[in-house]
Amino acid sequence: MKSILDNRPALKAEVMKIAEVAGYLWTNGWAERNGGNITVNITDLIDDEIRQMPAISEVKPIGITLPCLKGKYFYCKGTGKRMRDLARWPMDNGSVIRILDDCASYVIIADNPVNPTSELPSHLTVHNHLIEKGSNYKATVHTHPIELVAMSHNREMLGKDVLTKILWSMIPETKAFCPLGLGIIPYTLPGSNELADATLKELDDYDVVLWEKHGVFAQGLDVMDAFDQIDVLSKSAKIYISAKCMGFTPEGMSDEQMAEMSRAFNLPK
Ligand code: 13P
Ligand code: ZN
Repeated sequence: MKSILDNRPALKAEVMKIAEVAGYLWTNGWAERNGGNITVNITDLIDDEIRQMPAISEVKPIGITLPCLKGKYFYCKGTGKRMRDLARWPMDNGSVIRILDDCASYVIIADNPVNPTSELPSHLTVHNHLIEKGSNYKATVHTHPIELVAMSHNREMLGKDVLTKILWSMIPETKAFCPLGLGIIPYTLPGSNELADATLKELDDYDVVLWEKHGVFAQGLDVMDAFDQIDVLSKSAKIYISAKCMGFTPEGMSDEQMAEMSRAFNLPK
C-alpha cells in the first residue's frame, strides 16, 4: 500500500522516531492498552505534493480556535490505538492531519482515516502556543508513568515544586536534563478543554507537567527530547520509591550540593 512516507526520508525518519518512543513507553509499562498519546508538528517536512493531497476524512472540529495553526500539519496517535502497535505500524495507529484555514477544524490526509487522540485539544493548544512564542519545540507526549502517577496521589507532593525538589535531589542528572522541573495540574477530566488550558498555563514555566492521578504531559524539541525529560524524572521517582521500600526516606542531595551542581552546569536556580 502507498504511504505518505514513501520517498520522503526526512518525514519517514521523524515518524520512525515517534514509533521508537512509542516502543519505549510500552516497554516502560507506561502505556497500558491505548494509554498515552504523541503529536508532532511536521509542517517543516511537508512538500507541495502533500499540500495538494485531498482529505480522506470529513472536516472535524478541534473544539477551540487556534490561530497559529492555520495550514499546519501534525502526526497524531490515533484515539484508542495502542503504543505497542504504533511502535510497529505508525501509519496504521496514527495519521497526518492538516489544520484548515478557519483554525478551528482539521482533516485527515494520510495514510488511513485514523481519528486523532482524544487529548487533541491539549496537544494542539500547546503547539499553537509554541508557535506563537517562536519556540522550536515540535513534539508533545502524554503518558502514564507508574511512579510519578503514584506520587500524584499524595496531597503533600502536589504542592508547588515539592516534587521538583525531591526528584532533582535524587541524582544530579535530573536537574541537568530536566532543568525546569515538574509542574502540577490538579485533577481535570481527560480530553477536556479545561485540562488543555491548565496544561498550557503550566507549560510556560515547565517542560513536563504532572496531571494529578492520570499521567504526565511533556513538550520538547522532538519526540525523543520530550521522552528523555519524562524518563529522567521517572528514574528519580523510582530511586525515591526504592529507598522508601527499603524502609527509609532518602536523604536527597543537600541544598549546597544542588547549588554547586547548578553553577557547574549553568542551570537556572
Ligand atoms: P487516546 O487513546 O484517545 O489517545 O487516549 C489515551 C489517553 O491516555 C487519554 O488520556
Ligand atoms: Zn492519559
